[in-house]
Amino acid sequence: MIPVCEPFLNGNEKKYVNDCIESGWISSSGKYIDIFELVWACYCHRSHGVAVSSGTTALDTAVWCLGIKPGDEIIMPSFTIISCATAAIRNGNTPVLVDCDPETWTMNVEQVAEKITRKTKAIMPVHIYGHPVDMKPITDLAEDHHIAIIEDAAEAHGAESYGKRCGSFGDISCFSFYANKIVTAGEGGMVLTDSDTLDNLARSYRNLCFQPKQRFLHEHLGMNYRMTNIQAAIGVAQIEQIDNTIVEKRLIAHEYTKQLYDIPGLQLPVEKPWAKNVYWMYGIVLPDRIENTECAKFLKHYDIETRPFFLGMHEQPALRNLGLFKGEVYPVTEHLARHGLYLPSGLSLRTEEIKFISDKIREVLS
Ligand SMILES: Cc1ncc(COP(=O)(O)O)c(C=O)c1O
Repeated sequence: MIPVCEPFLNGNEKKYVNDCIESGWISSSGKYIDIFELVWACYCHRSHGVAVSSGTTALDTAVWCLGIKPGDEIIMPSFTIISCATAAIRNGNTPVLVDCDPETWTMNVEQVAEKITRKTKAIMPVHIYGHPVDMKPITDLAEDHHIAIIEDAAEAHGAESYGKRCGSFGDISCFSFYANKIVTAGEGGMVLTDSDTLDNLARSYRNLCFQPKQRFLHEHLGMNYRMTNIQAAIGVAQIEQIDNTIVEKRLIAHEYTKQLYDIPGLQLPVEKPWAKNVYWMYGIVLPDRIENTECAKFLKHYDIETRPFFLGMHEQPALRNLGLFKGEVYPVTEHLARHGLYLPSGLSLRTEEIKFISDKIREVLS
């Protein structure tokens, strides 16, 4: 099977993990946590990093830290992972959706302006499959309306919008370090911020809101969202290789594009002039006549693993059962959900394999 993506652990991962085991620092304190937070914050040009257990818990932490009141609204794309919506809901806020751009698949920035109300307290831009959101209009809107930005950069490690690194925008940003991410810690996440207050709140929330002076007196309800030193050790070794990882991802994308560009009706990923796409996953959108499930089935027959694109938030039974998004329609998201899929994009992918996969796509579309 050609996997859709697998972790590439060819650096110091083993050495640093062994160090944790030999030194006994296997829980959520230890030097690798400190180094991981410091180095990732520096890489993203931020003052503070707070490591947590996943990208999902990073989003939850970010929303909690902003103290958005129950009933207030957070604008986010329909085309995203459910973690974005659950972060809002678990904190008592209402997710408000916008459709996505048909080319970059990131949030439709014009619709964001239309959805702002007196209740809007945050915008949650989500960079998709390595391509950044057009952050200029988002930051302008946030400034004009005094709205916070919670950036979800889980899929865009090292990507840039207008030359500025993803994760460096707005009040607080979130990352995932799941096994398929550009930098992985096995599982894990991080929130980044330039605010001392948000940094302190995030540190407290991830650790059950224990108090420094009287540990078991709790003023707030926190969570155990701690990352272990072992996870951070893997993350540190991964950051050491990020420049090379991004070069490799871009080369894989270049090769796919070279093989696929002339197939009629097949949509390929773009890189807008203001963007640096890190091509976390190489996504394609099939012509209307064929659904992604059919193509995935065909490719699986040749041992090629793929993943369908996200199903929109407005089509999720778990969210609709809460009474959300009644009658809402997001045509671009719906089209992507039915016709989009991403192809094997791991670093061990060979040029011959890209050619083989591309030939099979050509065959299924012929
Ligand atoms: C855009 C986005 N945000 C958040 C997450 C959640 O991250 P995690 O799986 O680490 O909880 C993901 C997961 O892939 C994601 O793609």
